[in-house]
Amino acid sequence: LTKRTPLIAGNWKMNLDHLQAVAFVQKLHWALKDAKHEFDTVDVSVFPPFTDLRSVQTLIDADKIPFGLGAQDLSVHDSGAYTGEVSGAFLKRLDVASVIIGHSERREYHSEGDDVVAAKTKAALKHGLVPVICVGETAEDLETHGASAVPVGQLETALDGVASSAEIVVAYEPVWAIGSGQAATPEQAQEVCAKLRQVVAAKLGDDAAARTRVLYGGSVKAANIASFMRQPDVDGALVGGASLLVDEFAAIVRFQK
Ligand code: G3P
Repeated sequence: LTKRTPLIAGNWKMNLDHLQAVAFVQKLHWALKDAKHEFDTVDVSVFPPFTDLRSVQTLIDADKIPFGLGAQDLSVHDSGAYTGEVSGAFLKRLDVASVIIGHSERREYHSEGDDVVAAKTKAALKHGLVPVICVGETAEDLETHGASAVPVGQLETALDGVASSAEIVVAYEPVWAIGSGQAATPEQAQEVCAKLRQVVAAKLGDDAAARTRVLYGGSVKAANIASFMRQPDVDGALVGGASLLVDEFAAIVRFQK
């Protein structure tokens, strides 16, 4: 049986400028200092805005802070005349390890469809970044197709042509649960996360399915994290609002099964 290290990831979205980011990471590190052993059993990553990445990377490096660093998006292009875009190559140069792809806010406000998500997944892998592929159904999808049909389809397209050896992370984020205070139930999360793992098995093989971390995201907080982590196919959480609160996020990292 493959043991997957839980991953607690903080998606800051468009919050905290680079000065606030440095203060925040210092405080979070301090809040988790007495929990050093936790880092042997849990991976912690933060996903700040682009403008914060250099400052946070420098701090993590200088103070040997055991947090992974991720970006919230990347360009499908490597370089060139694409105003406003940031390439995976540049992120890699900054020691960024992973990148969120296909977040529902990108899908909704920037019209990113499954084809763009698939192209960005490949761009991330090409540059040695771990894509954190976000999938999830809207309230309307849930009503018409049930919980899993839309996220399953989204993941199938994202994984088209991806090598079986690729390291990826999948995040199941029901759109209706994001920022609403109304999280999915642990059973709902388990059901969809298990189906997403089956998609990974079908597209990339059983080994990949056994090692790939599938996260739940949507109104995760300290009070509900343990109930999600008890589910066999939920390997961690992608946290939005609660990742901006030092004590709350630290408590999420310290979840007890
Ligand atoms: O990517 C994480 C996010 O969309 C969940 O947000 O605020 O519901 O934890 P939140």
